[in-house]
Amino acid sequence: MKVMVTGGAGYVGSVSVDAIVAAGHEVVVLDDLTTGHAAAVAPASRLVQGSYGDEPFVRELLTSERIEAILHCAARSLVGESVQDPAKYYRDNVAGGVALLEAARTAGVGRIVFSSTAAVYGVPDTTPIGEDAPLRPINTYGETKRTFEGALRWYGAAYGLRSVVLRYFNVAGASERLGEVHRPETHLIPNVLAAVEGGPALTLFGDDYPTPDGTPIRDYIHVEDLADAHLAALELTGDGAGPAPSLVCNLGTSTGFSVRDVLATAEAVVGRPVPFTVGPRREGDPPVLVASNARARDVLGWSPRRSTLESMIGSAWAWRRAHPDGYGD
Ligand SMILES: NC(=O)c1ccc[n+]([C@@H]2O[C@H](COP(=O)([O-])OP(=O)(O)OC[C@H]3O[C@@H](n4cnc5c(N)ncnc54)[C@H](O)[C@@H]3O)[C@@H](O)[C@H]2O)c1
Repeated sequence: MKVMVTGGAGYVGSVSVDAIVAAGHEVVVLDDLTTGHAAAVAPASRLVQGSYGDEPFVRELLTSERIEAILHCAARSLVGESVQDPAKYYRDNVAGGVALLEAARTAGVGRIVFSSTAAVYGVPDTTPIGEDAPLRPINTYGETKRTFEGALRWYGAAYGLRSVVLRYFNVAGASERLGEVHRPETHLIPNVLAAVEGGPALTLFGDDYPTPDGTPIRDYIHVEDLADAHLAALELTGDGAGPAPSLVCNLGTSTGFSVRDVLATAEAVVGRPVPFTVGPRREGDPPVLVASNARARDVLGWSPRRSTLESMIGSAWAWRRAHPDGYGD
């Protein structure tokens, strides 16, 4: 199959491109390099620099490259920024996303896999969270992801678009070739490792949550497990007999780890203490966010293979040590 991956120069997208290429498929990466890294793009794929929101350009690209399916990873994804500047998030994640769908529709590309997020659930009533839990996002980022999920559903009903929405929980870890470099970095594990390396001090936002050690519990998923799920989802969109037209799956391990678990594992992996201070809670941080991944197991035939914190933190640490300048950009 020939796949266009939007955001294939970013953290999640680049690891997935490697997996899709390794499975024997052809990949065209569409990335505007706003937060991605050209050096992260698999040499066996083709990087096209541009925006998925540029409808005529994308239509031409899909047609000339004879693309069969799209993996849509690109997005604006900073929660704080989304609340301060919702216009940017509606323009890129929603209006840009619809431009991509229109380009696909008019180019005759009827298969798409979408990077969604646990942020669509907001503060859940129960845990583990199933896909049918109410969607009540508490920030613009989650709201724009929910809105685009809705567009996929309605495009499926009206135009027969076959889509798989994947709601990631907390993505972590690295492959041998590719790691996580965001500026600013808002994710816990890279910030823990940066603090160990003498970088910015780490703040632990609240230690008085109703959890066993007082710190929030999250569901971490290895970025290579996510790539496996992307591949399974892309294949499913081409299976005329499979569930259609729109499927939604959580992607997590269904196991929760607290912030203190992450710190303890990082200390064991690195062999040094993690310096940190305790600050106040952040608004909107639920005590526990853990996925039910039963549907992904059943329908995608997927299961996480790198579920331990040791494998996620260990691979992230190994990549940082091998790439002290990140991607050098
Ligand atoms: N990393 C996580 O923990 C996590 C969790 C849940 C959901 N997600 C979702 O997964 C996806 C990937 O996240 P990531 O951490 O890899 O982000 P990232 O910032 O590393 O990658 C995003 C990529 O998209 C590109 N991009 C942005 N806007 C574009 C545009 N208009 N046209 C073309 N390319 C554009 C960027 O240059 C970058 O390469 C996002 O949709 C994000 O919302 C990530």
